[in-house]
Amino acid sequence: MSVFIKQLLLGDLENFTYIIADKDTGEAFVIDPSAPQAQILRELKVENLQLKGILLTHGHYDHVVGVDKVDVPVYLSEAEALFYTPQAKQYMRTADGQKIMLGHFVVECLHTPGHTPGCQCFLVDGNLFTGDTLFMDAVGRTDFPGGSSQILFQSLQRIKQLPDATMIWPGHHYGTVPHEALGSLKKYNPFLMCEDVKQFEGYLG
Ligand SMILES: [Fe+2]
Repeated sequence: MSVFIKQLLLGDLENFTYIIADKDTGEAFVIDPSAPQAQILRELKVENLQLKGILLTHGHYDHVVGVDKVDVPVYLSEAEALFYTPQAKQYMRTADGQKIMLGHFVVECLHTPGHTPGCQCFLVDGNLFTGDTLFMDAVGRTDFPGGSSQILFQSLQRIKQLPDATMIWPGHHYGTVPHEALGSLKKYNPFLMCEDVKQFEGYLG
């Protein structure tokens, strides 16, 4: 069975929060909780799932709602720690390449800095959850503290090495479709088509 994915459009900034789960064991992770937390918990109940942890792609406020109110491990990249520390009861720092088990599934953490120094994507069962690193038609801003267009460009080159069939699930609904295969994005997201940093920065404006 494939990993279960539920995409929730929440908050004032068109955030995508995700519930991912192993339906065989009933274990679930929430990725990037946005407001309102009650709705996320309700969705877990509807799906008969038990929350086992929260995965954070980065520390911006619209992706970390309510992490101080749940007593499960909250995973954030160690590189994000200089900029943001979650007030979580079980704060877990992750390293690049680290693997976290979700039932029978392996969730791999990929460090993809650029939007923030500690941005990470989560790869599970052919799905990549990209937070604010990669959207459907765009990429994350690099003008926040700790952002870097050069470093984001490098992170995108790394993502492009994944198989074309990898399904990309972004952190905001900034596009016409809510998710898309990497192979398709490579054909229409201009930021993925840039051949060098100079061209990339030209698109960023
Ligand atoms: Fe962000």
